[in-house]
Amino acid sequence: MPDFSIEAVNLTKKYGNFTALSDLNLKLEGTKCVGFLGPNGAGKTTTLKIFTDMVRATSGRALINGLDSHKDKKTALSSCGALIEVPEIYPSLTPREALTMIAEIRGVPASERKSSITKVLEKVKMAEWMGKKVGKFSKGMKQRINIAAALIGDPHVLLLDEPTSGLDPRGMSEVREIIKDLKSESRLIFMSSHILSEVSEICDEVAMIDHGRLLAYGKINDIVSKFSGKDESVIEITVTKDLSTVTLNRIRALDGVSSIRALGPRRIDIKLVGGPSKQEKLLEKLVEMKIGLIVFRPAASALEETYLNMFKESV
Ligand SMILES: Nc1ncnc2c1ncn2[C@@H]1O[C@H](COP(=O)(O)OP(=O)(O)O)[C@@H](O)[C@H]1O
Ligand SMILES: [Mg+2]
Repeated sequence: MPDFSIEAVNLTKKYGNFTALSDLNLKLEGTKCVGFLGPNGAGKTTTLKIFTDMVRATSGRALINGLDSHKDKKTALSSCGALIEVPEIYPSLTPREALTMIAEIRGVPASERKSSITKVLEKVKMAEWMGKKVGKFSKGMKQRINIAAALIGDPHVLLLDEPTSGLDPRGMSEVREIIKDLKSESRLIFMSSHILSEVSEICDEVAMIDHGRLLAYGKINDIVSKFSGKDESVIEITVTKDLSTVTLNRIRALDGVSSIRALGPRRIDIKLVGGPSKQEKLLEKLVEMKIGLIVFRPAASALEETYLNMFKESV
């Protein structure tokens, strides 16, 4: 499997006397989705903008697949798509026209433009809207076109700055599904978001920053256990059949389970003491119980608790 990387090396950004990013070191590698978390003003957008050379670092380097995004801009960014503060598409343009312009700018050969545009619009499920004017689209549809634009040239590294922000629930859900699809196509996605349930759902790992400094980076469960100070994780499960009291009691009695909390008839949070090996055992046991297990993931509530603990004193 090819390996992609996004790396910040001693990255510092000053706006006058104000330090927005302070000696940030972070290396993301492989094919996965990494959530970028932190309060407003933490430096997330600034970081992503330095990676796309929209903002110049004061010192340090931003590397995409090992290439400096400022010094080797063209090559570095040829494998990188981004969704960061994109201007509104002119309302009287159609997606076909808008994306043709972008494909031209990106240097997609004229003979490949049409197929490339169809492909990216299919990915964001907007192919049937190709010839309609963007002005009539909902915010969610416009955001899907923006994602399509980021996908022109089929980049394997994607930088997304709050991709679902400002969308209604349907728009958010559609964009989330698109990101999940993109993730399954062997890409490295770095995505900022304030929606922790979304991050739990989509991301494999999180990087947390505040005041321009990296506070933590790692797998969601590892971060949760590390910063809760306890060797504890919370797993959310979803099953296809309603959980009976008997089943709930059997789950409660499993090795390592300290408590469970119902989120609905088919969804529960399981609080677990012990590290990854306990999680692995829990998953095996739940499968053996034949309860119709279809989702097993770090609970959104756990990430939220960690986030609130981590950032409460940093205001
Ligand atoms: N062009 C700019 N000039 C001055 N300060 C800026 C500029 N852009 C961002 N900042 C400041 O840098 C800090 C980090 O901003 P930003 O990267 O947008 O944070 P985030 O995306 O995490 O909310 C904020 O305090 C913001 O006010
Ligand atoms: Mg921002």
